[in-house]
Amino acid sequence: MALVSAKEMLEKARDGKYAVGQFNINNLEWTKSILQTAEELKSPVILGVSEGAGKYMAGFKTVANMVKGMIECLEITVPVALHLDHGTYEGCYKCIDAGFSSIMFDGSKLPIEENVAKTKELVGVCNKLGLSLEAEVGAIGGEEDGVIGRGECADPDECKKIADLGVDMLAAGIGNIHGKYPADWPGLSFDTLAAVKKKVGKMPLVLHGGTGIPTDMIKKAISLGVAKINVNTECQLAFTAATRKYIEEGKDLVGKGFDPRKLLAPGTQAIKDTVKEKMEIFGSVGKA
Ligand code: 13P
Repeated sequence: MALVSAKEMLEKARDGKYAVGQFNINNLEWTKSILQTAEELKSPVILGVSEGAGKYMAGFKTVANMVKGMIECLEITVPVALHLDHGTYEGCYKCIDAGFSSIMFDGSKLPIEENVAKTKELVGVCNKLGLSLEAEVGAIGGEEDGVIGRGECADPDECKKIADLGVDMLAAGIGNIHGKYPADWPGLSFDTLAAVKKKVGKMPLVLHGGTGIPTDMIKKAISLGVAKINVNTECQLAFTAATRKYIEEGKDLVGKGFDPRKLLAPGTQAIKDTVKEKMEIFGSVGKA
């Protein structure tokens, strides 16, 4: 199956009261693990690529071609969207050119008028090309690719302003942050989520910072209109812990244990296990 826009899968998720996972990719092992797990569980999936990860993987064109090649060679039949995560204005155009099927324009740090103008322009471009577009209001806190945000709660009126421009999904800050949550994190602001939902109507909402949010909060967020949940750090932590264990047990020193295909196998399995667990919690299993 060719790459698809995220629009249809998210509308189905919103109506069916489940969420589609966006799992960020960092390399070939990540991509393969996520695609294989989605296929095994018959779940739609969104592969997220930050600008930093795109650069690391030798550019957005390399990423798009790798993903398209894997979909064909691994005979993936479930819907897959390849999505730019937290894109700059310039990054959006690069990914459109590279063949991504979905784009996030993160204008959350711009004055609202500039966020509106740029989002509006990108709505026109993405609509014409059949790509889905995500916009953000209220910066998501924590650190991602060296960018540190504070975990704001979005202004519901600003959310409506951006949603009305015709984007396909909206990320609204509700106290969520990227990376690990601190011990004194007060939790998601469901009052903000409910107020945003009331203003934006049927617009599928996106929850960033999916790592470490307790299951009951995830389920409540889905019940209040969240249809896409982003996960990155949790796969990284699982991969690293499994790789550390392999080396600490001295397995790289036995036979051909140094072969990267062996060295990276436990970490790869750990990503699969993490993605499976998340898809089960999000309710997307069997929804492809
Ligand atoms: P985590 O790294 O906290 O899972 O967040 C991922 C994310 O929101 C990507 O946009």
